[in-house]
Amino acid sequence: MLCLGIETSCDETALALVRDGRLVAERMASQARVHSVFGGVVPELASRRHLSAIKSLCSDLLDGAGVDMSSIDRICAARGPGLLGSLLVGLGFAKGLALGLDVPLIGVNHLHAHLLAPGLERDLKFPCLGLLVSGGHTQIYYIRSPREFEVLGGTLDDAAGEAFDKVAKCLNLPYPGGVFIDRLASQAGPGEPDLFSCPYVDNDNLDFSFSGLKTAVANYVRSRPGLALESLKEDIPDNPDPELVRVCAAFNRCVARTLRIKLERALNRFDPSSVIVAGGVAANSRLRSELSDLAGSRGIELVLPDTGLCTDNGAMVAYAGYLLARAGLCHDLDLEAVPRGRQVPFDYLQCPAEQS
Ligand code: KG4
Ligand code: ZN
Repeated sequence: MLCLGIETSCDETALALVRDGRLVAERMASQARVHSVFGGVVPELASRRHLSAIKSLCSDLLDGAGVDMSSIDRICAARGPGLLGSLLVGLGFAKGLALGLDVPLIGVNHLHAHLLAPGLERDLKFPCLGLLVSGGHTQIYYIRSPREFEVLGGTLDDAAGEAFDKVAKCLNLPYPGGVFIDRLASQAGPGEPDLFSCPYVDNDNLDFSFSGLKTAVANYVRSRPGLALESLKEDIPDNPDPELVRVCAAFNRCVARTLRIKLERALNRFDPSSVIVAGGVAANSRLRSELSDLAGSRGIELVLPDTGLCTDNGAMVAYAGYLLARAGLCHDLDLEAVPRGRQVPFDYLQCPAEQS
């Protein structure tokens, strides 16, 4: 079965072909440079960029893979949560293809797609725990099967990635902030001071709160004139101020340790044999080493996708769509996009027999 995946929920226009659960080819047009000087994604610009990129990206993907459009069996598109205007571009394109090719449409939950993405690289074992850390979400899941996700805890305010982006913005580092804070933090030597304390860990829940930490960093930066770069840049300096490196490292460490503390708490309660870590922040080097250490000490399998599979991509959407298609599920062409902050319903239809 050949599935085309379409991802346009934020600032990456990404398409991929997955055949029988294996990646065939993918293409991505990143808008990071467009948004970098604004310190975050500008929704209207994002939608316009998706609109102008998607058609040629699709042709390029098919040509490069030597695949004829008529051999596609399912059109799978991220249907939320995400930026509404951006989602509508991808979904509209997907609907046009599904109608024109007369093949089923499958709307994919972007968050579930992140968590299932490592299935492209290895067999996933269920049930398991999932830690999703992205620009819009920080959640711990109990995952019974590829279609059964239960949220055990989530952020009460900023997502981890959002905190990275906002701290980067107050330092005049470019968007996506996590990438640049990670790079600066990795230049810090051992034994750097803990400038900030782990937020919202003195409780017994699995929720997160990163806005206080973000404010603590912002106040620290404000009290030290000259620490932030003098204007918003497109890249980090070649020889950064050691104090800037120290602050980035302290913040990075704090986020990574907080995620580790809450994940360890979840492991104590659910005792799974494996845990999947997914989303853009899962590319963070400090987080990866903290969680590898945790998994090693607990003797559980840590499923950490390759960094290219952590951030938004088309392969994860095609793969999640493939798993749904294999279960005989699809959507009608009246499928709606779901904006950020709203729950994505599990509203699949049984695929008509002649199409499955
Ligand atoms: O999953 P993703 O690509 O998009 C959403 O669904 O939100 O995640 C984007 C987020 C951004 O906030 C970005 O700053 C963060 O992931 N990110 C990182 C790293 N790479 C991307 N955060 C920390 N360290 C990184 N290396
Ligand atoms: Zn994402």
